[in-house]
Amino acid sequence: MVDIISKKKEGSALSREEIIYFIEGYTNGNIPDYQVSALLMAIFFQKMNKEETVYLTEAMMNSGDLIDLSDIEGIKVDKHSTGGVGDKTSIALGAMVAACGVPVAKMSGRGLGHTGGTIDKLEAISGFTVDMTKEQFVNNVNEIKLAIGGQTGDLAPADKKLYALRDVTATVDNISLIASSIMSKKLASGANAIVLDVKTGSGAFMKDLDDSFDLAQEMVQIGCQMNRETVALITDMDQPLGCAVGNSLEVKEAIETLKGNGPKDFTNLCIHLGAYMLLLAERVATVEDGKKMIQDTIDQGTALMVFEKFIQAQGGDPKVIYNTDLLSKSKGIYRLQALEQGYIHKIQADIIGMSALVLGAGRETKESVIDLSVGIVLNKKIGDFVEKGDILAYVHYNDESKKEDALQLLENAYEINEIKVQQRQLIFGIV
Ligand code: URA
Repeated sequence: MVDIISKKKEGSALSREEIIYFIEGYTNGNIPDYQVSALLMAIFFQKMNKEETVYLTEAMMNSGDLIDLSDIEGIKVDKHSTGGVGDKTSIALGAMVAACGVPVAKMSGRGLGHTGGTIDKLEAISGFTVDMTKEQFVNNVNEIKLAIGGQTGDLAPADKKLYALRDVTATVDNISLIASSIMSKKLASGANAIVLDVKTGSGAFMKDLDDSFDLAQEMVQIGCQMNRETVALITDMDQPLGCAVGNSLEVKEAIETLKGNGPKDFTNLCIHLGAYMLLLAERVATVEDGKKMIQDTIDQGTALMVFEKFIQAQGGDPKVIYNTDLLSKSKGIYRLQALEQGYIHKIQADIIGMSALVLGAGRETKESVIDLSVGIVLNKKIGDFVEKGDILAYVHYNDESKKEDALQLLENAYEINEIKVQQRQLIFGIV
């Protein structure tokens, strides 16, 4: 291990064998944290080349269980977002793609964040569960074309250990380490092809557009080297996606989107990501055909029908589709008003996310209990004109003091002035 650290410290590329040696040794406890910390810092400064990044991804992928989706008919395409505020895409998009006949076998997580993960959000629907046997999961995908399960088994344990170590050694923000971390888990999840939604902006992991492109390129290269067709869209996360941020609130917005009443940016993102999923699944020949097919699932109500069957198959109350008031609701709603007139230039996604967390919508630690009913619903987005006193957002709360803390944060989330401003671009590029 000392030779490996030394080699990287001097700027040489590590071989596949050396990378496998350190990943296996670290996973099984034979190599201590302090040596891996030193290696991570050497990687941080000397970087890894493309081959090393692929070897690292492969070694981490092989450190645990590999999910076998071969019992599911057809080409399985997964979608992964690098995460952001108000990102409820998996909930609506799954039903749209499934309604086109393409199987969506999704493993989702809970995790830490401003709001819960996809599973937490769906649990806002009474009775909904991801508790099912592998046979039920496979049957549901074969029959309905859509199932969302919890992450079972031990996917890429090397990444879990390494990520925790990166977190405490200031070595998270290295593109090769981020790309290999994300892709090792995706590749272990068994899909044949992958569509990546790489977020960029204040509410994203990658704040800078060039860095977001670099990350997208690195992840696409890894996917292709590992024989999975992979496409990445670089999309806006400088303001929250759609309007709703919070678990029940996001499910409601996803349902409205399936009915054709969703926010423009969110609907558009689903249409674009869905089109690429259909393309990689060989369901359509062009992206334009894909967009049209996804739009048809909204216009013709077929995506909503799939969603209803999916909720029912996983124990949820399907009546929620026709009456979203059945989702849990907060005790109070505070109307956040504009203090001046003008055009909205900024709605800082990270601050909106923090406010949702403060209200109780997310987890600060693994033990935190999520309040499914609270959150924020934006009434205006960047580019909109507001008069003084117009409602900028609705703050859904259960606890007065948490509401006050959230409002303090929200004071700094908006920038409004007299200069006219364009609506924000949604998609910055495709890799
Ligand atoms: N998400 C991950 O899974 N890994 C990283 O390194 C960064 C974000």
